[in-house]
Amino acid sequence: MAIDFDFANAGSIYSFAMNSDAPTPPAGAAADWTIPQAWRRYTPDEHAMWDRLFARQQALLPGRVVPAFMEGLDVLRMSKPGIPDFDELSERLMKATGWQVVAVPGLVPEDVFFEHMANRRFVAGRFIRTPEQIDYLEEPDIFHDVFGHVPLLANPAFADYMQAYGEGGLRAAGRGAIDLLARLYWYTVEFGLIRDGNDLKLYGAGIVSSYGESIFALDDPSPNRLGFDLRRVMRTKYRIDDYQQNYFVIDSFEDLLRQTRDADFGPVYDALEDQPDIEIDTILPTDTVYHRGTQARVAAAI
Ligand SMILES: [Fe+2]
Repeated sequence: MAIDFDFANAGSIYSFAMNSDAPTPPAGAAADWTIPQAWRRYTPDEHAMWDRLFARQQALLPGRVVPAFMEGLDVLRMSKPGIPDFDELSERLMKATGWQVVAVPGLVPEDVFFEHMANRRFVAGRFIRTPEQIDYLEEPDIFHDVFGHVPLLANPAFADYMQAYGEGGLRAAGRGAIDLLARLYWYTVEFGLIRDGNDLKLYGAGIVSSYGESIFALDDPSPNRLGFDLRRVMRTKYRIDDYQQNYFVIDSFEDLLRQTRDADFGPVYDALEDQPDIEIDTILPTDTVYHRGTQARVAAAI
């Protein structure tokens, strides 16, 4: 059975980062691991794939996704059809929030990934899935990276959060706390939900770039939907081989930014050092529970 899931068997939680001892960039890449996007080399079929995915999500997401995402989609509306040209995209983003999008050849070392983010450069893959892979990918492609991540980079608070995250990553790397910070990324940037009045809305890139999870994350009774708490999230395991069993709900991007920026993570890491991990399906007495999941999807898969 093919599942609609962007990260099946993904080797890393970051779109394009890996644990490594900083090998040198591959041939053809710059010292910071970037490569030209080579936009002119995309084929008509590849552009058509982008248009097909874009149209499907654009029809599904209004009313489900945070309004800031739909507003940010404007930066993706290019003068040319198909896959966005990173130069043009960066020009628009730069005007909005000072961010750029740069292409990398594949996985890059974590310190390179964080260094780019801390300097408001979002690294993206340049390949696009084939029609056979439309709902099943082993590595995030340009549709995930650009459609999923870039619209919210046009939102000032979220843009600042992403930069703060990159700076936090550089600090965490020196403390051996990457795993804790990775969970924060996973449960916010990739799979976050946000409150919108009495409703919940999507904002995580892993959700909004996936047709199936865009429905599942909001509508399915299976997963837990819990209030975001920084320390709680950092202790919580996650899965990379199926839809999430937990989604964490933030109040606003401003609140997420405040928690990240105000928290010097040093004391947080100290406090968490001796605390056990929280299993994926556990609900704590201290949790704000928006929805207590049935976990039926997991039971059905066994
Ligand atoms: Fe991603």
